[in-house]
Amino acid sequence: MNGVAIVTGGTRGIGLDISKALIADGLKVAAVYHGNEDAAQKFRDETGHHAFKFDVSDYEACEKWVEQIEKDLGPVSVLVNNAGITKDGALHKMPVENWHAVIETNLTSCFNMSKAVVGGMRERGYGRIINISSINGQKGQFGQTNYSAAKAGMIGFTKALALESAAKGITVNAICPGYIETDMTAAMRQEVLDSIIRSIPAARMGKPDEIAAIVSFLASDKAGFMNGSTISANGGQYMS
Ligand code: CAA
Repeated sequence: MNGVAIVTGGTRGIGLDISKALIADGLKVAAVYHGNEDAAQKFRDETGHHAFKFDVSDYEACEKWVEQIEKDLGPVSVLVNNAGITKDGALHKMPVENWHAVIETNLTSCFNMSKAVVGGMRERGYGRIINISSINGQKGQFGQTNYSAAKAGMIGFTKALALESAAKGITVNAICPGYIETDMTAAMRQEVLDSIIRSIPAARMGKPDEIAAIVSFLASDKAGFMNGSTISANGGQYMS
């Protein structure tokens, strides 16, 4: 494959493995990050690819930076909306800021980034948009009204944009990872995490590269007839 891929949250966690997989596939990767400078520099040093710092929940920043990425690297053919945060807590205890932060970072970002690239993809008659949703957007999760709503929203967003884009050679698909070994799951209370692992038929968490492999396929020409789909990768924890 050639061309340019943007991976949001692309310097850490699942996003880092996605960036590396797309680099191995031959794409020029622009990894987007927000906070962690050390991880971004390590990514640049280890891969020789670019990391750009901006907030994906900020519409104007996405517009401006995508323009800059296209100026520096060329037209974007692949967008992976992977950036996401958790601010877990039962609804009756959830401050309104935690609702807005998760909806804006996880869901509004998909609108912002897709809007910034889709015009060019339509003109060129080719594009791949891959949205990293979650098992918890499919089944709901105690303590995650904000996250589950955002991740379920990404699935609806995927289907609607796929309908609008299919005739222009653009595919839009969603992946729903289950519990994957990342900083995000490492931050959970150990006894809560242990009880979740007991509910996974595969009896283990997933690895980031097991999600990256699916992204690599969806980004390839081989996946041209997959559009608007929702792919689960959760060790059998939830089958929809
Ligand atoms: N189902 C039913 N009841 C539950 C429950 C569950 N899953 N979890 C907790 N409860 C109950 C508890 O038994 C307790 O009840 P009692 O007061 O009657 O004993 C009550 O709810 C309060 O539970 P906690 O003590 O756990 O409450 P807390 O406020 O300390 O913690 C929480 C709440 C932070 C949400 C914690 O339960 C938690 O971490 N849950 C897991 C959330 C989760 O799965 N996050 C995933 C992060 S990773 C990710 O999101 C990636 C991805 O895509 C998969």
